[in-house]
Amino acid sequence: MNNIYMPSPYKILDIQQVTNIEWLFKVEFDRADEINYGQFIQISIPKVGEAPISVTEFNAEEGWIEFLIRKVGKVTDVLFDLKAGDTLFLRGPYGNGFPFDEKYKDKHLVIVAGGSGCGPVRSMINAVHKKFKSVKKMELILGFKDTNCIIFKDEITSWQEENNLVLTVDKMCEGDSCDLGVNEGLVTQHVDKLDLSNIDDLEVVIVGPPMMMKFAAIEFEKHGVPEDKIWLSFERKMSCAVGKCGHCKIDETYVCLEGPVFNYTKGKKLLD
Ligand SMILES: Cc1cc2nc3c(=O)[nH]c(=O)nc-3n(C[C@H](O)[C@H](O)[C@H](O)COP(=O)(O)OP(=O)(O)OC[C@H]3O[C@@H](n4cnc5c(N)ncnc54)[C@H](O)[C@@H]3O)c2cc1C
Ligand code: FES
Repeated sequence: MNNIYMPSPYKILDIQQVTNIEWLFKVEFDRADEINYGQFIQISIPKVGEAPISVTEFNAEEGWIEFLIRKVGKVTDVLFDLKAGDTLFLRGPYGNGFPFDEKYKDKHLVIVAGGSGCGPVRSMINAVHKKFKSVKKMELILGFKDTNCIIFKDEITSWQEENNLVLTVDKMCEGDSCDLGVNEGLVTQHVDKLDLSNIDDLEVVIVGPPMMMKFAAIEFEKHGVPEDKIWLSFERKMSCAVGKCGHCKIDETYVCLEGPVFNYTKGKKLLD
């Protein structure tokens, strides 16, 4: 019988340091054709544990997947000791991911991401940018603590060429220089830089820390965006990732199965 908890071994192809605490892992993966934007994989380290990590980019033809990983605890600490050529144990993809074809296709897509919240939306932004997927228009607000925390700088430069992209940092440091055109302030302070003239056409994706998602969603509501046009992605603590253990459950909702992406109508109840 198939053991649903059994991970498979995959080779790490490349590791890049992105910031002091975030590294980008590129890993061989033969099931990338099954991935939807915003889904996650369970990464396991034998005798240590497992951690759910979002797929930040994938390529089915070339057979690889990328993870942007923060070093925060027992599993991720071990990951940061690995090198290219080592083996990672993976199971998944899991979760629903973003409903691109059902909801965002041919719409005006606004994506607001804070810090490592850029990870789960990166593959979707690239898919639109590289014309694998089509929307009427895409606008982005990407927010970081300071200029040292800005990730995916090369891709941001390329996204800026074709899309309205508002890059923000909470605070400019003295002597700060960044050639990407940075605005100071929280992402919520820059919502009026977006074209919100045709709300009927709009779909808004917000990914980041819970407080950021909450206040950004409230800000879009103030601008007249109905809650069913707002989408959030949650990083709830998980264990099995397949709806068996109840670890991720909030009231009656299994975040691992029904999420991690939720429409704000449901997501606002999970935020409180
Ligand atoms: C759907 C989903 C997608 C995720 N995507 C990513 C990703 O792309 N990159 C990434 O780096 N991390 C991601 N995470 C978070 C990651 O799974 C946790 O940080 C993970 O627990 C790290 O494992 P660890 O063993 O290293 O840390 P642990 O030793 O388990 O924990 C270290 C510390 O972090 C706290 N913690 C653990 N998990 C969470 C959590 N989910 N929320 C808040 N605090 C937590 C613990 O309480 C502890 O204080 C995601 C989580 C989910 C549910
Ligand atoms: S993580 Fe086990 S039920 Fe969701």
